[in-house]
Amino acid sequence: MNYKTLDPSKTYLITGAAGFIGYYLSRKLLEQGCQVIGVDNVNDYYDVNLKHTRLGNLEPYENFTFINGDISDKDLVMKTFEGYKPNIVVNLAAQAGVRYSIENPDVYIQSNIIGFYNILEACRYNPVDHLVYASSSSVYGANKKVPFEESDFVDNPVSLYASTKKSNELMAHTYSHLYKIPATGLRFFTVYGPMGRPDMAYFGFADKYFAGEPIKIFNNGDFENDLYRDFTYIDDIVEGIERLLSNPSEGDVQHKVYNIGNNSPEKLMVFIETLEKALSKALGREVQFEKIFEPIKPGDVPATYASTDQLQKAVGFKPETTIEEGLQQFADWYVDYYKLK
Ligand SMILES: NC(=O)c1ccc[n+]([C@@H]2O[C@H](COP(=O)([O-])OP(=O)(O)OC[C@H]3O[C@@H](n4cnc5c(N)ncnc54)[C@H](O)[C@@H]3O)[C@@H](O)[C@H]2O)c1
Repeated sequence: MNYKTLDPSKTYLITGAAGFIGYYLSRKLLEQGCQVIGVDNVNDYYDVNLKHTRLGNLEPYENFTFINGDISDKDLVMKTFEGYKPNIVVNLAAQAGVRYSIENPDVYIQSNIIGFYNILEACRYNPVDHLVYASSSSVYGANKKVPFEESDFVDNPVSLYASTKKSNELMAHTYSHLYKIPATGLRFFTVYGPMGRPDMAYFGFADKYFAGEPIKIFNNGDFENDLYRDFTYIDDIVEGIERLLSNPSEGDVQHKVYNIGNNSPEKLMVFIETLEKALSKALGREVQFEKIFEPIKPGDVPATYASTDQLQKAVGFKPETTIEEGLQQFADWYVDYYKLK
């Protein structure tokens, strides 16, 4: 393993900078003195206050420039590339969420397909050292063979969200092949942590608990055959991305896809119990959710489980934060941010 560390003299364009992962990545690069151009349309898919809080934490950095814009606006994307000449681009802007894609397909095509196409076109006319972009573990669909490996067959997505992410991988491959764009796709596995996404289950469970409402668990109430998720702590995701930034793949077609997951799936019920314990500790009193069990939702998959061998081989790193540590960080932040103590 021979990988290059982050180059602080480069200019980094990060789309989705007001988002969960984009915010933490931007902060980490800014702390190391990099020039960061953040782009985000600050949409209201979830509480915009959280996005403004994240942006508020980035704005004090002198080397941070924020552009409030939509990547589906080709003119804006082209002008941003022409104006700032980024060396390294990280495309994290996307419409996320599996379930929402069933009711609101349009925005997925707009942001994830047209938006990503615009990023590729911009890289074609404004050559970059590396384009890193977010894919998702959801491309594995209902695959039974675990752990999921990058070489597995992933042509059976079970949600439109997953189809857009798989399409991104295909589009990136083509652009990389045709226009020699070094590109890396990252299949993230259920990322969680402080200032995370309120649309994700762990955050929603905390919201419901403090609203005095029961939580709904979509696992058929079958603990023997519970859902398994490979939960990945935000700091591990950021470390993985950071290590890859200066290391595009080599070869004829400079395109590669990596899993970034914890390589250690947990039963959903164990995750929920761990969250109860973490909130109990953060509050100093016992927390127990009232639970309602429901059938598994369309588009949801029974298990996610990442093989991280490829990532480890490329950059000598694999996520290892336990859910006990990670959920405690989340619970402490949640209780403090919403002033619940
Ligand atoms: N968090 C996870 O568990 C997870 C798992 C797999 C993949 N991903 C992918 O990682 C990326 C980042 O996810 P996240 O969890 O930080 O999500 P997020 O929703 O918090 O961040 C995405 C950001 O992009 C912005 N955005 C959306 N559409 C845009 C557009 N058309 N133009 C400009 N900005 C736009 C949003 O306002 C948001 O701030 C996404 O591509 C997501 O699909 C995340």
